[in-house]
Amino acid sequence: MKQEELWKLLGEMTLEEKAGQLIQLDGRLILGRGDRQTGPETENRPDLLPGSVLNFDSAEMARELQSRHLSEDRLKIPLLLMLDVIHGHRTTYPIPLAMGCSFDEGLMEECGKMAAREAAACGVHVTFAPMMDTARDPRWGRIMETCSEDPLVNGRMGAALVRGMQGEDLRAGDRVACCVKHFAAYGAGEAGRDYNRVDLPENTLREQYLPAYRACLEAGARMVMTSFNTLNGVPAVASTFLRRVLREEWGFDGVIISDYNAIGELMNHGVAEDEDDCACLAMGAECDVDMMSLVYARLPDLVRSGKIPEAALDAAVMRVLRLKQELGLFENPWHGADPETEKRVYLCEAHRETARRAAEESAVLLKNEGILPLPGNPGKVALIGPFATDAHLNGAWSRPGAEEDTVTLPEGIRQVMPGVELRTARGCSAEWNVDPSGIAEAVELARQSDWVILTLGEAEWLSGEGRSRTELSFPGAQMQLFREILAVNPRTVVVLFHGRPLVLTEISRTAPAILDMWFPGQQAGPAMARLLWGHANPCGKLSVSLPWTLGQVPLSHNRLNTGRPKPQPDTGVFPFTSSYLDAPNLPLYSFGNGLSYTEFVYESLETDREVFSDTEGLTVRIRVRNAGERPGKEVVQLYVRDLVARVARPVQQILDYRKILLQPGETQEVVFRVEEKQLRFWDAEGNFLSESGDFEFSTGWADHLLHTKRVQMTKREAV
Ligand code: NOJ
Repeated sequence: MKQEELWKLLGEMTLEEKAGQLIQLDGRLILGRGDRQTGPETENRPDLLPGSVLNFDSAEMARELQSRHLSEDRLKIPLLLMLDVIHGHRTTYPIPLAMGCSFDEGLMEECGKMAAREAAACGVHVTFAPMMDTARDPRWGRIMETCSEDPLVNGRMGAALVRGMQGEDLRAGDRVACCVKHFAAYGAGEAGRDYNRVDLPENTLREQYLPAYRACLEAGARMVMTSFNTLNGVPAVASTFLRRVLREEWGFDGVIISDYNAIGELMNHGVAEDEDDCACLAMGAECDVDMMSLVYARLPDLVRSGKIPEAALDAAVMRVLRLKQELGLFENPWHGADPETEKRVYLCEAHRETARRAAEESAVLLKNEGILPLPGNPGKVALIGPFATDAHLNGAWSRPGAEEDTVTLPEGIRQVMPGVELRTARGCSAEWNVDPSGIAEAVELARQSDWVILTLGEAEWLSGEGRSRTELSFPGAQMQLFREILAVNPRTVVVLFHGRPLVLTEISRTAPAILDMWFPGQQAGPAMARLLWGHANPCGKLSVSLPWTLGQVPLSHNRLNTGRPKPQPDTGVFPFTSSYLDAPNLPLYSFGNGLSYTEFVYESLETDREVFSDTEGLTVRIRVRNAGERPGKEVVQLYVRDLVARVARPVQQILDYRKILLQPGETQEVVFRVEEKQLRFWDAEGNFLSESGDFEFSTGWADHLLHTKRVQMTKREAV
């Protein structure tokens, strides 16, 4: 359909039909099937004909929803079908926070492509991903859904997902459009409590939170979802400030959708009196689609009474129609929905292989006192702990039943190491239940074994939406299990499964080896076994800081120096400095940290000049050598510090990174280009700018910077 035809179509629509295009209902409720909602609504509204639907489970359901809709819609405008496809559809790959630790955009793109292939076959047109809420507070259960504490890493991984999912042509039956969420700063909720207020000064918002969403829009994402939170007092869905940023500053002319019921919740926030008020505020902020609050059913009356201009309604409807047109729905309302394709692509070998690789690349080896990789003939191996035989290794936002297709840890070990003499014991749960009655049996097994693989973490359901915690501890009796196992068998490797950073301080002190797998998805078993036995070499790096203690959060590597910085090394008590009496300032494991079975030596960092101008930029060369005996991948990281600026700058900030593969003995030089615009910050007058002066460039990882080199930037206009 051409643009003129869309205008013609719009001209034929009644006010009710226009409002319908802006209303989103739940597909499972419409068909009376399935009891899994992603928000509070539980009742259908058969009197409304929505323009879009979320939540359905199969191509067959998608086709039924579409054909039913087309038979009821006078103008035969197809439904837009949306679903959360957060880390895989039928084939589940690691949670986004784990994917961030892979620092591998190519892999993320591949994962996005496979997720889109499966989701499109199921009938999805638009997915509510990527989630780009930079987060620094692990109390927030949705930290598992973001890729990083850092906006650069987050944005790059998100943009890769968008490229993978959307491809070149949204009409293709194996592609889905992306909806970036949650605009904005949902990850900065006070005290880590979900849906809570967000208060951020504009420089922090602009520098730390907005860039990741923007990176995804620049990659072509077609839709934006507003967030649940207030931002400096104004609920995001009603924020004209955020509208201005999106529409005017960034030129985004795609669809904006509310989060689930968020328009109706304006009354709970206490900024709207009634539904009419809610609708006016959200329309005033150009929120085009009302997900599940049904408040936009009031739009026709509000236009008739002159409270909302019809032009505003038309503009919103046109944005929705244009998206339907881009997806080719007017010509082919089924898009990719096809039960046969579902059967063919779901869990196909290529997808399982990609998911396994993703699980391997995102695992972070945090500690290894020479005991990993495990020997080929390990004797008796005990697999112990709450995840030892559990299939709930996918993490939140995986479809119900994903565990049925999960390759468990014992299955994985048997696949990878068929001859191993393996026994398992659960010991205790990773939930609140503190029942220690299984511990004695597990300890006995550990005593009789040559090696112990001890799985610890946090049950799958304890992170995700609405899953905030006030502790970052290991729930239940896990620490007792840990202590008792370690006391009888020092050859214990701890493998972690969790969605949020947990406090590992005690574990890291005594366990000889720790492999952090987050929630790795359905290929958890083979990925873990391959990593432990060295068939794969760990290469993940933390995309988020792991705190030393709960009291340190929120925490991120790009902190400010303060006027009274704590002297280094970060131990002891230093009165009248910005520090704690009872804990260090630094995280237990810093951003960018992660070991390998080989050894990388950073030989040098050089720049092509000592003084560079804002127009010519700078080239930084970092030489890295694989000094070990195995091939390995390393994430070479470039950090910057702007030494003097009128607005205080972080003590370290990741500026760029590249993941490389090095053979034993091989050296590579990684070349980074630095442009002036990467050095900009938001100043007190509301401009993004850089200042001339000295900058330090370093490599290594956060809090372990190497080869720091000072270079001066001059500004041409100032010369
Ligand atoms: C609420 C969540 O906040 C959002 O991320 C999700 O996409 C919607 N529900 C739809 O399921």
